[in-house]
Amino acid sequence: MAQLAVNVDHVATIRQARGGVYPDPVHAAVLAEMGGADGIVVHLREDRRHIQDRDVRLLRETVLSRLILEMGATDEMIGIACEIRPDLVTLVPEKRTEITTEGGLDVLADPGHVKNAVARLHAGGLEVSIFIDPDQRQIEAAAKTGAEMVEIHTGRYCDAAMPSEKERCFSEVVDAARLARNLDLGVNAGHGLCYNSIKRFANTGIIDEFSIGHSIVARAVLAGMTAAVAEMQALVRQCG
Ligand code: PXP
Repeated sequence: MAQLAVNVDHVATIRQARGGVYPDPVHAAVLAEMGGADGIVVHLREDRRHIQDRDVRLLRETVLSRLILEMGATDEMIGIACEIRPDLVTLVPEKRTEITTEGGLDVLADPGHVKNAVARLHAGGLEVSIFIDPDQRQIEAAAKTGAEMVEIHTGRYCDAAMPSEKERCFSEVVDAARLARNLDLGVNAGHGLCYNSIKRFANTGIIDEFSIGHSIVARAVLAGMTAAVAEMQALVRQCG
């Protein structure tokens, strides 16, 4: 059975919009676990646009399932990961100008750099996954870095508008997952998955864990709206 790791970055995005203390991604993680999350994911970006160092430290103390840290393969992040010791590190590419992670890590562009980052994380006692496009050559290169698993980028599948393109992108993800499995890699998948796009994976049995954030946080905002307004309305009525 596939597992669900819940990304709480966008709870921090809402907090950072006002620079205050709420909503707290640490609280969201507790609620996500109460809902059945098999893991909690956060991306500590170099520019700290949403998740802060304090969040990762507190989550390490409070997450009861598994803490998964997404990060760039930089000296700073490797140092933080080895200190905080998440249950899994997922190496991702990072550009300051992007709205969200745009594509998989280009392992082929500098295999030595990625291999070195994996070795340093292993030396710190950490398991490593590499976020990667559903591309045969990238997956073969990722397998040679020594990482335990890959996370296959599902963004193109999710963004595809035409049914034929969607089906082609889905097949790419499935083929990539099969190849990774044949290379003895664990296989996760994520990015852009929502309450519709996840259904195509039903009964495929090819993905170990899905990493999903934005659609869940977006659904939580709407699912909680009625209760949130009723609570405030009760207080406002007392002001009359
Ligand atoms: N996996 C990776 C590597 C990501 O960078 C993200 C986005 O932070 C996700 C999964 C989750 O994507 P989404 O928020 O679109 O569900």
